[in-house]
Amino acid sequence: MYSRPIVFAIMATVVILVGTIAMMVVPLTLQSTQPVSPLVKPYTAVELEGRDIYIREGCNNCHTQTIRPLRTEVVRYGQYSKPEEFAYDRPFLWGSRRIGPDLQRVGGKYPDSWHYRHMDNPRSMFPKSNMPDYAWLAARQLDTSYSYKKTHVVGYGYTVNEVNKNLADYLVRVTSSAYIAGDARDKVTPPVLKDKLTEMDALVAYLQKLGMDVKNLNKS
Ligand code: HEC
Repeated sequence: MYSRPIVFAIMATVVILVGTIAMMVVPLTLQSTQPVSPLVKPYTAVELEGRDIYIREGCNNCHTQTIRPLRTEVVRYGQYSKPEEFAYDRPFLWGSRRIGPDLQRVGGKYPDSWHYRHMDNPRSMFPKSNMPDYAWLAARQLDTSYSYKKTHVVGYGYTVNEVNKNLADYLVRVTSSAYIAGDARDKVTPPVLKDKLTEMDALVAYLQKLGMDVKNLNKS
């Protein structure tokens, strides 16, 4: 073979091409290579808005969203991450740096009221916390003008009506007098925005969704 460099080059190219097509081009044409349980749900419009704020504020610079299959992590954070859980994450927010704890299973860990207080001033919940305050997120009305477009671009398949209903329902939920975290929300939200959706509302919705698919899976 070494005496026939041209033949060698051609054959090597063919072998590499076959490998490339099998390993790259074929999977690219497949819808999914991982089975996704029907319990793994795409984000609602409000949660997706919260996720965008999470990205904008760079929360992922301090928080990971991946639990490795190591005993210490599973004991601290809960079940290790499964590939299908990220089926609707575009982009992934696995992160690489843990200044704060992992957040992949934070949904349901605390009540909403805890999150409002913690966002407003992390030291009110953990005296030694070095997480910055995000109090001003409650003073900003949530911009929902692109909510439908965003869910559409990432391919969640909601209709305009479903997106509008989700936004309206969430507004009703947080402004209703029955809302269990109402007091905490009122305390951090300026009076003019009390009957509007704020960026903090969306962020809390997003945090409360994290890891819930797996938690619900265990319940059923
Ligand atoms: C400078 C690093 C830093 C940034 C940026 C940061 N955090 Fe934190 N976060 C921490 C630290 C440290 C803790 C642990 C102490 C505490 O709870 O305040 C924490 C705790 C938390 C917790 C409680 C987790 C648990 O399981 O107890 C949540 C929820 C949280 N952060 C959300 C956020 C969100 C949302 C953002 C972006 C808006 C953010 N963090 C930005 C450092 C950070």
